[in-house]
Amino acid sequence: MPAYDFRTVPHIHIGRGASRHLARICAPLIGSAKRIFLVTDSGVRGHGLTDAAVTSLQAAGLEVLIFDQVVADPPRDVVLMAEDKARDFGAEIVIGLGGGSSMDTAKLIALLLGSTQTLEDMYGVNNATGPRLPLVLIPTTAGTGSEVTPISVITIGESTKMGVNAPPLYADIAVLDAELTLGLPRAVTAATGIDAMVHAIEGFTSKIEKNAVSDSLALAGLKKLHGAIERACSNGDDIEAREDMLTGALLAGQAFANAPVGAVHALAYPLGGVFHIPHGLSNSLMLPPVLRYNAQAAEPLYAELAEHLGLHASTDGLVTEMERIADEVGIETRLSQLGISHNDLPRLAQEAMEVKRLLVNNPREMTLEAAQACYEAVL
Ligand SMILES: NC(=O)c1ccc[n+]([C@@H]2O[C@H](COP(=O)([O-])OP(=O)(O)OC[C@H]3O[C@@H](n4cnc5c(N)ncnc54)[C@H](O)[C@@H]3O)[C@@H](O)[C@H]2O)c1
Ligand SMILES: [Fe+2]
Repeated sequence: MPAYDFRTVPHIHIGRGASRHLARICAPLIGSAKRIFLVTDSGVRGHGLTDAAVTSLQAAGLEVLIFDQVVADPPRDVVLMAEDKARDFGAEIVIGLGGGSSMDTAKLIALLLGSTQTLEDMYGVNNATGPRLPLVLIPTTAGTGSEVTPISVITIGESTKMGVNAPPLYADIAVLDAELTLGLPRAVTAATGIDAMVHAIEGFTSKIEKNAVSDSLALAGLKKLHGAIERACSNGDDIEAREDMLTGALLAGQAFANAPVGAVHALAYPLGGVFHIPHGLSNSLMLPPVLRYNAQAAEPLYAELAEHLGLHASTDGLVTEMERIADEVGIETRLSQLGISHNDLPRLAQEAMEVKRLLVNNPREMTLEAAQACYEAVL
């Protein structure tokens, strides 16, 4: 195997109720800093999920400014608005607390305040150079794995998803507190959980950068998620299941941070960009047709994953199980259920083909015709 690098976040704290002790967990990072900029969305804040963290920080004598205007698939303008607020405040440390949208926004704020680069300089792979402000990420979905990835995804203009992917986006500390995920609604639990499973599956079949370390993490992550997703969906208060989901999403995140995702994500992105379908649901919809298309090139790897989960060792075994889970937890499985029609498919396929940074990782080359056929298959 050729030489490879494996990177991840240096400090990961996992503990129920950890956000109540946030100041203590982060004390070495905080040092003598006084002003903390906390990035979240109004839903997360409205559910009271920022309260424990803020109380802990304030009790330690820190000043906290909450920015709660993040929205799903964060638009560039929201990032720039948050940047202005953070600068005016004189932020010294950035905390992202929420789902992938809040964490991705927080990552960019830390970078924009710490470096001289503009957002436009940062788009793409390895273009952001840092330095950045100290950064703590606390996920409330399980999830994107953004707390351990060097990636931020934002929306430019009406519908284009742009990614910033560079090592300075790895946080200093990721804090996993399963209590924060107890109130996650069933459909969001299901969709974000399937997103995490897709990270493990696509990381394991990533064409260029797949390696022994990312493989182990993908296998471990997928097994945890598979064992917990239906329990977490049927009983949201099952803290064991919630913690397994959070840990599984973290492991899958560590895998795909190093062995990037492919065509499932590339075809999912236009569904988010054009139709504002949540990221997890978009991935859940596109997983079956893309895996079936990829089977010609990736059958042994899909079979290995299926066997690892105790399923029939084949692409079909894996895909059928993922379809069963989506059915069982009751999320949409057809594009037409979400208002998408046959006429929309050429545009979706064209936009998907633009997501070249991900398509290069797909085990089988994706073509415009094949992309359109994948959408057609789940219309
Ligand atoms: N950086 C990465 O590596 C990476 C990876 C995958 C996806 N993403 C990006 O992440 C975003 C999607 O993130 P997401 O799926 O976590 O969703 P999200 O952050 O958009 O949140 C979805 C909704 O769930 C609510 N919510 C979050 N936690 C909750 C909780 N505990 N209880 C109740 N409600 C809660 C939020 O208020 C919001 O309304 C997309 O923009 C996607 O492109 C990033
Ligand atoms: Fe994802």
